[in-house]
Amino acid sequence: MKILVLGSGAREHSLIMALAAEHTHTLYAAPGNAGTAELAENVALDPTNKSVVVEIARDLDVDLVVVGPEAPLVAGVADALVAEGIAVFGPSHKAAAIEGSKSFAKDVMSAAGVPTGDSETVSSEEELLAALDRMGAPFVVKADGLAAGKGVLVTQDRQAAIDHAGYYLQDGTVVVEEFLDGPEVSLFFLSDGHTVMPLAPAQDYKRAFDGDQGPNTGGMGAYSPLPWLAEDFIQQVTDTIARPTINELASRGLPFVGLLYCGLIVTDRGVRVIEFNARFGDPETQVVLARLTSALAPLLLAAANGTLAESDPPAFSDDVALTVVLASEGYPEKPHTGRLISGLEDALAIDGVTVAHAATAHTDEGLIATGGRVLSVIATGGDFDAARARAYEALEAITLEGGHYRLDIAQRVSDDHAG
Ligand code: AMP
Ligand code: GLY
Repeated sequence: MKILVLGSGAREHSLIMALAAEHTHTLYAAPGNAGTAELAENVALDPTNKSVVVEIARDLDVDLVVVGPEAPLVAGVADALVAEGIAVFGPSHKAAAIEGSKSFAKDVMSAAGVPTGDSETVSSEEELLAALDRMGAPFVVKADGLAAGKGVLVTQDRQAAIDHAGYYLQDGTVVVEEFLDGPEVSLFFLSDGHTVMPLAPAQDYKRAFDGDQGPNTGGMGAYSPLPWLAEDFIQQVTDTIARPTINELASRGLPFVGLLYCGLIVTDRGVRVIEFNARFGDPETQVVLARLTSALAPLLLAAANGTLAESDPPAFSDDVALTVVLASEGYPEKPHTGRLISGLEDALAIDGVTVAHAATAHTDEGLIATGGRVLSVIATGGDFDAARARAYEALEAITLEGGHYRLDIAQRVSDDHAG
């Protein structure tokens, strides 16, 4: 197949690594990065520009377009491709609102009977104060629209909640949510609009520093599988969350084609949705795909073509996978970029280690960091101890001045489930 992957992060590099491992595809990444360039042809374009994406997809005569990030989805890139008869893995602009609008997601969940935190959408300070009083501390305040990971504040401080909400209330609505207590799980579902198929669950580390300290980030690491989950967890989430959500969207005339990312909290009272995304998660994708043993492209195409029900479900290895993100000095607030990266070859020589590039570029001086999250070091192993040892050996081999990464990725699960 000829496949065009839109995006330029470690998620997209991971998708390309998985597709390249099938040895039968011609791959394009748009715009891609220094890592994707090794396995695919990078095409310089703005992935949110609908007409350019359609034109390039047609010129390259691709069989499938896979949309990585949310921005092109929200911009209606999938709609434009579908209108031209080009197969695309990624939902329409309207179905992508499941990620782009928290109040829309809440409305869909409420109609579908999907378990989620109690919430209220407010549009004035008066409504906000009443909602905060009703929910009580800790306060959870979410910007209603896309806010690049910065829209959510969880705090004990009522004034901080009011200030955060006040900022977003200037030009939109805000969702005040009940605080949910428990471990977080990301579970991805392929969907063709009617049939859903789960991938393997993963856990993401959102805070910048060890021990879940510091600011929220795009994600500093992840691991899969989650041996502490109940045996029927995937089935339960499929039956009570993913399928009802997809059915509700279909009944509204908004069939969801692509990846439904279920962001979940496992509370004492059961599993609750804290967010949906309309795309693969980053960095969870790096570990989910590292464990995938069956082919990815046929499933993405079946989802795009509405034939998922006729496909075999994906298979995953019993190996564990973890990823640790190497970030630039100052990330997430103010990353220093342009610094040289060395030692990648030594890292890649370690058994079970791969590296997905997140923000890199080749220059005359060598490989440099071009953004906040720079590399996603991925390691697999027979148990968490083995995979952790490999990942951290690889990170020690890599040099980036001022670079930082968390040392505690999969530490707890490793201690609790020692091989
Ligand atoms: P979101 O962007 O909705 O995933 O929220 C970002 C982070 O805020 C999540 O990963 C959680 O750690 C936290 N969070 C969101 N909603 C809640 C909630 N209702 N209760 C507790 N923590 C939450
Ligand atoms: N890792 C969180 C996300 O992709 O949204």
